[in-house]
Amino acid sequence: MTKIDRHDLTFDDWDEVNFPRPAEQDFDRVVERAISRRGFLGGVLAFGSGAAVMGTAALKGTTAMAQQATRFAFDQLPAQTDGTVHVPAGYTWDTLVRWGDPLFSDAPAWDAATGVPTEGSDRVFGENTDGMELFGKGGVELLVVNSEYANRRVNLPAAQDGVPASAGDVLRLQNFQGVSVLQVAESPDGWSVVVDSPYNRRIHHNTPMVIDGPAAGHDLLKTAADPTGTQSLGTLNNCGSGRTPWGTYLTCEENFNGYFGSTAGSHDALPEVNQAGFKRYGVGIDGWGYDYHKWDARFDVSKNPNEPHRAGYIVEIDPWNPDAAPIKHTALGRFKHENAACTLTPEGQVVVYMGDDERGEYMYKWVSRDIYVPGGDTSTLLSEGQLFVAKFNDDQTGTWVALTPEDTGMTTAEIAIFTRVAATEVSATTMDRPEWIAVNPTAVEAYCCLTNNSRRGALNDDGTVRTNAAGEPMVPNAPNPREINRYGQIVRWRPHNDDHGAATFDWDLYVMVGNPTVHTEGPYAGSANMNEGNLFNSPDGMQIDSAGLIWIQTDGDDDNEGDFAGMGNNQMLAGDPVTGEIRRFLTGPNGCEVTGLTWSADRRTMFVGIQHPGTPFPDGEGSLPRSAIVTVKRDDNALIG
Ligand code: FEO
Ligand code: CA
Ligand code: CA
Repeated sequence: MTKIDRHDLTFDDWDEVNFPRPAEQDFDRVVERAISRRGFLGGVLAFGSGAAVMGTAALKGTTAMAQQATRFAFDQLPAQTDGTVHVPAGYTWDTLVRWGDPLFSDAPAWDAATGVPTEGSDRVFGENTDGMELFGKGGVELLVVNSEYANRRVNLPAAQDGVPASAGDVLRLQNFQGVSVLQVAESPDGWSVVVDSPYNRRIHHNTPMVIDGPAAGHDLLKTAADPTGTQSLGTLNNCGSGRTPWGTYLTCEENFNGYFGSTAGSHDALPEVNQAGFKRYGVGIDGWGYDYHKWDARFDVSKNPNEPHRAGYIVEIDPWNPDAAPIKHTALGRFKHENAACTLTPEGQVVVYMGDDERGEYMYKWVSRDIYVPGGDTSTLLSEGQLFVAKFNDDQTGTWVALTPEDTGMTTAEIAIFTRVAATEVSATTMDRPEWIAVNPTAVEAYCCLTNNSRRGALNDDGTVRTNAAGEPMVPNAPNPREINRYGQIVRWRPHNDDHGAATFDWDLYVMVGNPTVHTEGPYAGSANMNEGNLFNSPDGMQIDSAGLIWIQTDGDDDNEGDFAGMGNNQMLAGDPVTGEIRRFLTGPNGCEVTGLTWSADRRTMFVGIQHPGTPFPDGEGSLPRSAIVTVKRDDNALIG
């Protein structure tokens, strides 16, 4: 039998190896859903001209494509397949900071072959850059950046197959991940890190933090090291980001489950509630390959079965106060958080849109009880309020369903800890892996990248439909209409009454990503705003700039063959929300994911993240590949967002 190297699997594939999905038993349900799907495909969604894809009258204010002059200030960049970054003519990119670069002058020196030693590994810029935000005040600019996960083979180049061989190896991996706060400054020579700035800070897998909200102090969060259930160490798998109206940073814990394992070899001796939770959230025996549990008992669930309940949250960081403990906000739910897109209702309540990135999981919304008052008390805004989950209807309307004790049969604390269970209880809509959500600052609407779902509508060996981790069959549904969805789509919604706090909304698909050069017709050709010039797959990162342009980053298949022919490397494109036009702006080195985007205070520089390059980017031959943040400027120094 071939041994599976777990670290070579995607997070989703690893989850399915760990917890094979149950075969669907409820035959009537499958038939019923299949029939409604036939009706849907036959009557509603005809690709390119159908009601669910933009360009129709469904969302008032959406105009037909190509009726307006282009809003893009650049010519489309051709697809690329090489080992570096490309931007259009008239723009220039530069490297700002790479994994292993010093944030402090006492950091160890970088070695091109061995990287960074364990000692001092918490004094350098982290690995695998992801979500980021820039905060400016009084001429000081702070970049706050997630480091999502560790590439063991790159980060531990001396370890056999990248398998940690000591507690020191594990500590090094723990230090490379989390969040980096770094002051940056622009000079005539370009942007650079202000080494030793008093604001510079590394937050990693052992940084003390505070737990608040309904789950704080609950028995399921208590451990031997923290009998109060209110203090935890570290923030795990920091994927996307968000920024609050009051100037703090939100980091989002995504695939936290992969860090935990069990030296007991089974969960059988654990309380039933832990076992059920581990199954729903994919906490396994062996972990995703980090092997923390073999060297650090905190991650060994046979010894600390409640530790996984203390991760999977939205975590708030005050970039201006390096001594402030980050706060884990349990009120915003526990799941594989992608990002946290904040906005306000007309009355001033805080709204946070969030996706749970796993096949067949859901989209969520938080609405605060209290209103945001500039300069006022913000302490309740992410702890007192209501969490909702999205339900999409076939008629292009939708509802945010409140996750309440009455409707879920769970306590408020249980809803916070086992949010996925609560959402399944109210029949939320299974989605094709919700990645980033972005709110349009120029219109009352929001967008979510549904990156792909190769299991949507796929069949098990016995002919039953593949299910999500809750056992719900992932048959196609209105916003996720394609079987074996390799390319992804972006769903857009407009809340009723122009109020992001409203319980109902209208929706459409901004783009159904496809490859019209390979599939000349049918669902895999994609919507009308896909063409030979702008091919891409798997939309993931997303930000909408102050002018309302949608910046879309990809994390997809970059082999440039077959279904993906002509797409080239992962990339960043800009989309016009009104005309639907999408144009390629930047390409990354092969093997990389392009993720994370923010702007300088003057909006004349764009910061873009290059995660896990597959070639020795950016240093060239002889060096380990290094995740990096690059700056992009217009050559005329005009606004770029
Ligand atoms: Fe960390 Fe779902 O991307
Ligand atoms: Ca992502
Ligand atoms: Ca992704």
